[in-house]
Order: sequence, then structure tokens, then C-alpha cells
Amino acid sequence: MTARVTYPSGAAATQAVPSAEMPETMPPALFQPIRLRSLELANRIVVSPMCQYSAVDGSATDWHFIHLNTLALSGAGLVLVEATAVDPVGRITPPCLGLYSDANERALERVVGAVRRYSSAALGIQLGHAGRKASSREPWNGGSLILPQDGGWQPVAPSAVPQAPDEPPPRALARDELPGVVEAFATAARRADRLGFDAIELHGAHGYLMHEFLSPIANRRDDEYGGSLENRMRFPLEVFEAVRAAWPREKPLGVRLSCSDWVDGGWDIEQTVVLARALAARGCDWIDCSSGGVSPQQKIPLKPGYQVPFAERIRREARIPTIAIGLITDPHHAEEIVASGSADMVALARGMLYDPRWGWHAAAALGGTVTAPKQYWRAVPRDVAQSFAGTRIGQR
Ligand SMILES: Cc1cc2nc3c(=O)[nH]c(=O)nc-3n(C[C@H](O)[C@H](O)[C@H](O)COP(=O)(O)O)c2cc1C
Repeated sequence: MTARVTYPSGAAATQAVPSAEMPETMPPALFQPIRLRSLELANRIVVSPMCQYSAVDGSATDWHFIHLNTLALSGAGLVLVEATAVDPVGRITPPCLGLYSDANERALERVVGAVRRYSSAALGIQLGHAGRKASSREPWNGGSLILPQDGGWQPVAPSAVPQAPDEPPPRALARDELPGVVEAFATAARRADRLGFDAIELHGAHGYLMHEFLSPIANRRDDEYGGSLENRMRFPLEVFEAVRAAWPREKPLGVRLSCSDWVDGGWDIEQTVVLARALAARGCDWIDCSSGGVSPQQKIPLKPGYQVPFAERIRREARIPTIAIGLITDPHHAEEIVASGSADMVALARGMLYDPRWGWHAAAALGGTVTAPKQYWRAVPRDVAQSFAGTRIGQR
């Protein structure tokens, strides 16, 4: 049995309702489509954004071509391109991807063009600004802060509070600099539209700039952007509104949030629900429910699906579609998350790198179907042949 779920934003999904009378032919919940504005996703599987630290001056390289075209053939309904800086000082590392110049735009055009040619997956891009976590070394080089004299730059943040106590503080953004940062997000959104992206996700998580404004751990401002919850939400909501206005009305716009700092006195799920309601009221199409990243003191109770309760609560209390993420690798677990109504979509990051045909394998395991490229149609094992939609093989 199915029930039609319609959100105040207009997003609509057919939700599987577990029932003893459910006909055998009913597709699994993970393989039912979902509509976000005019974008219809073929299924509920999302490739989570993953930094590749492989750009040159913010421009995509052959690595992005390989990486994104591989994941575009994973069977996921939506592929989200990594955290992409809206401004050079907003890059996490020097080789992080950006969308702040014409050269950045041109470099992504080639990647997007190939994805479009060979994959039916929808393509979104995560736009962000690293705030005080900018100017870092790549993880494989230790991830530490790079000082300006060593080839880094001066990071900016809501307040001059360092990420780690032994680091020099970032420069606090002056009140009159904030509109420029907001405009950088909107300009990048216009570039994303020109490139033909189907969706944007704003990076409001993991201790980067938008999250830094939200969290009392990083935000110690005494102007109208700090202090009360309303004030701390002001900058992220301004970014959202500016991007919503710059981005075509028919295209969906979601936000990734850290639903908890996992530190006493930090940002938490109660505040996240308030923010999610405010975002939903402004036309947000999903909340991607992550956590942590703002403090090295965080204590995260890691286990498969540990962030799913955030997705469930935000979906229920803020009436907005949610993405569940975090140590989800088993297709049956993913199916249970969507079928039970805990989240509308399930994202995978590491699981997708490890098994870049995860969507195919999930379809085979659950009895769903994916659209595979015709060049690979012969790959499907006989006993799960129905998991590839519309194949026709012949030879003389
Ligand atoms: C290589 C790598 C790069 C990542 N880069 C990003 C990123 O650009 N933006 C983001 O929001 N999260 C990023 N993350 C976090 C993932 O999107 C995801 O939230 C996290 O890995 C938990 O999901 P998983 O257990 O399926 O890996 C990254 C994770 C990995 C492993």
C-alpha cells in the first residue's frame, strides 16, 4: 500500500505503508520516485557530497571527471557534488573545488556534460564557505591549519574564536562584510544554474561558516548576528533567501545541517527543528541531517544510522523532507529508514566510494530497478535480471 505525502513546500512522495496486503509487485520504498519542485528523482538514494581536494585554483580536474562520472553510474537518483566554495577564502583546502570564477565554471562544464550524456541521475551541487576551517591541509596531509606564511590565507568567521585552542584565531567578519558573502552564494547559484545543475544543497553543517553562525561555540557576536537563537539564525537564513531568489523557482534547494554539536551548550536538535521550520517557510526543499564538526570536544555516538533520529524528528516536527546520512551501508537498513517514514531519502558517502555500484546492488537485494547504461546491460546477473530496467540484448 502507498500513501501520498505532500509537504507544505509542495514536495511530494509516494510513501510505502507497510501492510500485510502489500502486493508483491510494489517497488521497495527506496526505489520509489520523489518529486522536489519540478525535479523527479527516480529513487531515494543520494550520493553524499564528498570533497576530493583535487581542484586547481577551484577548478575541477580530470579527477572530478572520473569521480563524478563513476558515481553518476551508481544507480543513485541524486548525486551531490562536493562542498564547492563560493569564494576563494571559503575553500577548506587550497585544492578544494570552487564556483567563484569563469574558469571554475568552464572546468565544471566538461564534467557536467559527460554526466548528462551517460547518466540519468539528477545532479546537485553543495555550495559552501569554510569559515574558520578554511586554509587547511588536505586530510592525507594531516588536515591542520596552513598559516599565510606557509601558503595558506587568513580565515574569516563570525567571531575571532579558533577551531582548536592552539590555533591563531580567524578574523571576525565585520557587519558590513556579510552582504558580500551572501552575494557570493547567490552568484555561485547563478553559475550552477547556467551549468544546468538540477539542485543546490547549502552547506550549513560540519563547523563551516553557516554552522559557525548557528553555534554558540563559534559565534560570540554581540550584534544582531549573535546571541539569541533568532540572531544566530539570521546569517544562514539570509544566505538561504538570497540563493532561493537567485535560483530558478522550479529547481529545488536543500540545506545540510549539523543537527547537534555533540557538546553541552552547543547547537542541538531542538534549535535545528526551529531552523528547519524557518527554512521550510522560506521554500527549503530538504534538510540533509548530519551532525558535528564545530568543536574538537564533540563526543559522537557512532553506529550505523546514528543520525537517523534527527532526520525523523525534523521530518515530523518541521514537516519538511529529510535525508538520512551516516554509516548506512546495508540496503535493507536504507529501505527500512525510508519505508518507516524516518526520512525521505538516504545518502551514502564512504559506502559509495567503496562500492560505486551500490544502487545496482541495492536494487538487486531489494527487488527494485535501476537504469544502467546500455554499454553495461550485459553485466546484470541472471537471477536478478529484472533489477535493470528496459534492457534489450541481441546479437547475430
Ligand atoms: C572523502 C569524504 C569527503 C567528504 N566531503 C564532504 C563534503 O564535501 N560535504 C559534506 O557535507 N560532507 C562531506 N563528507 C561527509 C559525508 O558527506 C557524510 O556525511 C559522512 O561521510 C557520513 O556518511 P557515510 O557514513 O555514508 O560516509 C565527506 C566524507 C568523506 C568520506
